[in-house]
Amino acid sequence: MRVLVTGGAGYIGSHTLVELLGQAHDVLVLDNLENSSPVVIDRVNALTNGNLEFVEGDIRDDAALDTVMDSFRPDAVIHFAGLKAVGDSMEQPLSYYDTNVRGTIGVLRAMDKVGCTRIIFSSSATVYGEPVYLPYDEAHPTNPTSVYGRTKLVSEHIISDWANASGGTGILLRYFNPVGAHASATLGEHPDGVPNNLMPFIAQVAVGKRKALSIFGDDYETPDGTGQRDYIHVVDLARAHVAAVNFAQGAKGAKTFNIGTGQPYSVREMVAAFETACGKDIPVVVAPRRAGDIAAMQADASLAKAEMGWAAEHDLNDMAASTWAWQSANPNGYED
Ligand code: NAD
Ligand code: UD1
Repeated sequence: MRVLVTGGAGYIGSHTLVELLGQAHDVLVLDNLENSSPVVIDRVNALTNGNLEFVEGDIRDDAALDTVMDSFRPDAVIHFAGLKAVGDSMEQPLSYYDTNVRGTIGVLRAMDKVGCTRIIFSSSATVYGEPVYLPYDEAHPTNPTSVYGRTKLVSEHIISDWANASGGTGILLRYFNPVGAHASATLGEHPDGVPNNLMPFIAQVAVGKRKALSIFGDDYETPDGTGQRDYIHVVDLARAHVAAVNFAQGAKGAKTFNIGTGQPYSVREMVAAFETACGKDIPVVVAPRRAGDIAAMQADASLAKAEMGWAAEHDLNDMAASTWAWQSANPNGYED
């Protein structure tokens, strides 16, 4: 199939390109490189020798979208492009609605013009908000607590309404916590500045860029008192997109899937796994709880298995070992 990947130079997108090209799909990436590097495209090409095209452009630029759609004529779009920092979203809500919501509308409009009827969308478990019960299944109420989360939920509704009205197909993937890196150690996550997320922070402590990890609260109602999350290896997540592209061929309307492992780990368990992977101690200090954090979350990912035939295969050791291999080989990310 011909697959247009918006935001394909990013962390999750880059891993997905490798999996798509490995399945002999033709792929075009549209990315404005606002949070990524062109080196990613070279590295994906080196890993795959695949049929990858790259266009630098913004999803908010209708003319750029039309040009790409017109020349590439995709069978499906995987829509990763967006802004994802929860804290920033509270300070710059309009910018988040503009990129994440208006950008999504622009992508759908451009698809309509060339008769492309399938979209796979990057949503997030953050749309559920405070758990009413765990594990979250796809029927759990949605009540996001950040602007970022609301942009994802609004985009889900827009895609759903579009699919129902047009006879198209929208696959809404609610990712849990993506971590890890490609086995080659040439692709991975490299956040700008101080990492907000746990795994990149631990990795930067391990390479000596940061002194110690602050554990945000050790008095939660969890077995060891630290927050529990459902971490998912980015390569498993990438493969979920390939499964979704295939599934979309035989589906109509909108369909939502949790993409997680179903196995939660605490902050202290993540630190211990990383210490084993890197063979070093990770210094930690216990700090106050982070505003907006919940104690625990976990996916019921059984629907994705039943309907798309997808399930996570990588375990915690793979997550920690691949992160360490990537971080130690590329301490400055794609600038090395
Ligand atoms: P990322 O920032 O690494 O990738 C996003 C890509 O989109 C980047 O390459 C960036 O340059 C590009 N981009 C941003 N704005 C653009 C625009 N206006 N036009 C064109 N390209 C643009 O992020 P990621 O971690 O790979 O996340 C991908 C998607 O998955 C995002 O939509 C994010 O919200 C969603 N998501 C991520 C996580 C996570 O923890 N990483 C969790 C749930 C959902
Ligand atoms: C965060 C976002 C969420 C987003 C997700 C992407 C917030 C409130 N939530 O989720 O919207 O979808 O990233 O993966 O920002 N922790 C520490 N020390 C650190 C960093 C994190 O103890 O330096 C703890 C947190 O308190 C939490 C766990 O580690 O218990 C995971 O945190 P993080 O990686 O930021 O993910 P989420 O909070 O789940």
